[in-house]
Amino acid sequence: MDEKPIVLDQSHTDSRVRKHTYRSSKLIVACIIVQVVILIYRLTGPPKALSRLTRSQPEPAFSHLASHCAHVSPIPAESFVARQQALAETLHTLGASAYIAEPGASAAYFANLSKSQWFLSERPLLLIISPKMDLEDRVHAQVSILTPAFEATRAKLLSIPSESEIAYPAWPEDVDPYGVAVSAIPNLNGGTVYVDGMSRNFIVDGLQQAAPSSKVVTAPVEIQRLRERKSKEELEIMKCVNEVTVLAIRAVREKMYIGMRESQANELIISALSAAGLQNPGALTLFGENAALPHGSGTDRVLGAHHFALIDCDGSLHGYHSDVTRTFALPDSTIHNAHLRLWQLVHSAQAHALTAARNGTLTAEVDHAARQTLAAQGYAQYLTHRLGHGIGLEVHESPYLRGGSDDVILTGHTFSDEPGIYIEGQVGIRLEDCFYVDDEGNAIFLTEGVGGAATGPWSP
Ligand SMILES: *[C@@H]1O[C@H](CO)[C@@H](O)[C@H](O)[C@H]1NC(C)=O
Ligand SMILES: *[C@@H]1O[C@H](CO)[C@@H](O)[C@H](O)[C@H]1NC(C)=O
Repeated sequence: MDEKPIVLDQSHTDSRVRKHTYRSSKLIVACIIVQVVILIYRLTGPPKALSRLTRSQPEPAFSHLASHCAHVSPIPAESFVARQQALAETLHTLGASAYIAEPGASAAYFANLSKSQWFLSERPLLLIISPKMDLEDRVHAQVSILTPAFEATRAKLLSIPSESEIAYPAWPEDVDPYGVAVSAIPNLNGGTVYVDGMSRNFIVDGLQQAAPSSKVVTAPVEIQRLRERKSKEELEIMKCVNEVTVLAIRAVREKMYIGMRESQANELIISALSAAGLQNPGALTLFGENAALPHGSGTDRVLGAHHFALIDCDGSLHGYHSDVTRTFALPDSTIHNAHLRLWQLVHSAQAHALTAARNGTLTAEVDHAARQTLAAQGYAQYLTHRLGHGIGLEVHESPYLRGGSDDVILTGHTFSDEPGIYIEGQVGIRLEDCFYVDDEGNAIFLTEGVGGAATGPWSP
């Protein structure tokens, strides 16, 4: 490049001419830079920031996923009413006066009131369900929503199914909300008030102070199990959302290539889950030794020919979540034999855990079955986390498949079965499918409809 003209000169006119040439050479340089950028763009594709901007058009390769769950219905109003009835009967049996939950997964289960419908703030909005006897001594559910007075109109717009009219006790800003809450509970008289386990501390404290002669405590297992054990219609949703998550991983694998980055594959899986119509899609994509850190390393590794790719992802359909992990090779990968053997070992740990999971067994025994399989080959110490978690309206919910737990597995329970081997600096392999326990007490993968568990490193 001609830098010389910058050494400026004596003559005024001369310097103007030179300045002019200097400007046009700057223009030429700018043009060249633009050309080079366009060339690089053509060769390598858009940089990340741009690809995010253009991502609003769905990737055509994933459009076939949209129809998979189109036939699945959301939970109908009568099912919410049945859930409230079951809760009221359980409260009556336990001799308790009320059940109280903040907007969240439990309120979504009993009353279609999730955190996305009503964001939590310091002002309490509470779902209150109480058993109420009719003249023939039958139990009914009374549903109340404690609302800030200035928000009462908005609270009444919430779609909360109920058999009878919902009460909306309202608290003005200069009044104690918890006093208003407990006065909405019929026949409290020092009876027990159960609160959802996810309620915030100040809510529980406030209720306890407003009802000093009552016990305000976390809802017991009899109530937790109402939500833990899924109905047929919940299982239909959960099967579909888990199936389409597997289909999304398989479709993404078709688009993957050696030399791509984790972040690029991660964008593909998010767009595939979105194309499938899932809400809140989330994904973790890890290549090679990065997968040895179960929740990632924060680097953006390039996929090498000897690397496994691990994709762990989830999304939700009608509020119910999927959770699937596949560790796989691409058609032209050349994976070390030692790593292929580890893949088979994790695969058989996953299968043994499924066989061990039966109605009536402890969740700890299922965790143990997976660990025993790894221990037989000397790899037990490389499974560093619990085997699995309950899943439903939350990605992780009780009960958990973990050693030391005395939770019992029952029909309708749903869990992830996700053993792994993590050898830091070398390799990480995890395989995850969720299962349910059917009416006969057998564990069946929710992904069964699309083949269930992976069958090999090249067939995820
Ligand atoms: C549950 O709430 C959602 C969102 O407000 C609404 O679209 C849906 O119709 C409600 N379901 C029932 C059964 O009321
Ligand atoms: C499941 O196990 C429970 C607890 O052991 C038992 O009461 C129930 O009868 C069992 N149900 C089935 C279908 O095996």
